[in-house]
Amino acid sequence: MSEHASEEPPIRLRPLGATGLDVAELALGTWGLSGDGYGPVSNRDAEAIIRRAVELGVTLFETSDAYGKGATESLLGRLLEPYPHTQIATRHGVDRSEKPPRKRFDPAYLEKCLNRTLERLRRPVVDVYLLHNPREETLRNGELRAWLRGLKASGKVRCWGVSVGNAEGGYAALEAEAEVIELAYNAFHSADLANLGAAIAEARAGVLAHSVLAYGLLAGLWPVTKTFPEGDHRRLRWIDAEEISTRIRQLDALRTLQVGDAFSLRGVAVRFVLSNHLVSAAVLGPRSVLQLEQLVREAGKGPPYLDEERLAALPVKLAEVGIRGW
Ligand SMILES: NC(=O)c1ccc[n+]([C@@H]2O[C@H](COP(=O)([O-])OP(=O)(O)OC[C@H]3O[C@@H](n4cnc5c(N)ncnc54)[C@H](OP(=O)(O)O)[C@@H]3O)[C@@H](O)[C@H]2O)c1
Repeated sequence: MSEHASEEPPIRLRPLGATGLDVAELALGTWGLSGDGYGPVSNRDAEAIIRRAVELGVTLFETSDAYGKGATESLLGRLLEPYPHTQIATRHGVDRSEKPPRKRFDPAYLEKCLNRTLERLRRPVVDVYLLHNPREETLRNGELRAWLRGLKASGKVRCWGVSVGNAEGGYAALEAEAEVIELAYNAFHSADLANLGAAIAEARAGVLAHSVLAYGLLAGLWPVTKTFPEGDHRRLRWIDAEEISTRIRQLDALRTLQVGDAFSLRGVAVRFVLSNHLVSAAVLGPRSVLQLEQLVREAGKGPPYLDEERLAALPVKLAEVGIRGW
């Protein structure tokens, strides 16, 4: 595997807020490779996807110490060891040794997890260290704040941030001086980033956008009768068949952006995310090399990613299909 061993131009870099790091605007997320979220994936396939991502110019790899109970971090550590230019973002704060797993953000626990993560990643420093969805009051805890303030000086972390579940969590994170915010952001779910936009711009925080395909929905390839197998988180998320078929019909609003070189709906979905200048990287979730290559090829090579007039008209189109306050 060689760095950028591709006929394609490398993926564009963007600054990760004011952290001083630049990241390729397409990052590889590894939840789907861990077997935890979408059902089993062979080690061979997971390895092939990570290797191909490096070849294509992905620099940032997003993971969590919870994925595969640490196995996904170990996999990244092993495969990325020969590529010191690559960066790893990982998330802590879920204690899976407890049943049921519980959120934990006490510094003694986090410090222990961070040391284990560094061993698994085979690196002296985590590039982007994220707390996984802490409650707002947790982020106001003085002991945690003091620990976070000392993190960069410890040399174990290049920058830190918070993965948030909504805009309120984002405000609490920015108030705690997080340098990076990770959140769900896609064409059907954009209100949180829109709400936080001014505060993120003022803080000059980096933004990692995940779930850019709304768990695959926005690729536009599902039949209205789509079902999910046991072990796939979407089986529990979309229990109601009526809801899925409604969602699939709502994709017509997004299809209005399918023009020119934005020929595929999944490409439109990724381009929608990249069109937002606040976004540092779209964290992709391919589950095969083919899916990865499709996403990278169809994401566009620079602005404007989408027809600007049609993009401006998207809120009206979404409202017409029943998606408001997006
Ligand atoms: N910080 C956090 O709390 C957080 C939360 C969620 C996700 N993430 C990160 O973000 C990454 C991606 O997010 P996500 O898994 O939530 O959602 P996503 O990227 O919106 O959706 C992933 C799904 O999209 C489908 N897909 C991917 N590439 C495709 C292609 N080329 N054509 C058609 N369908 C395609 C696959 O579905 P099929 O399997 O059906 O093919 C895949 O399982 C995760 O791996 C994870 O690392 C972070």
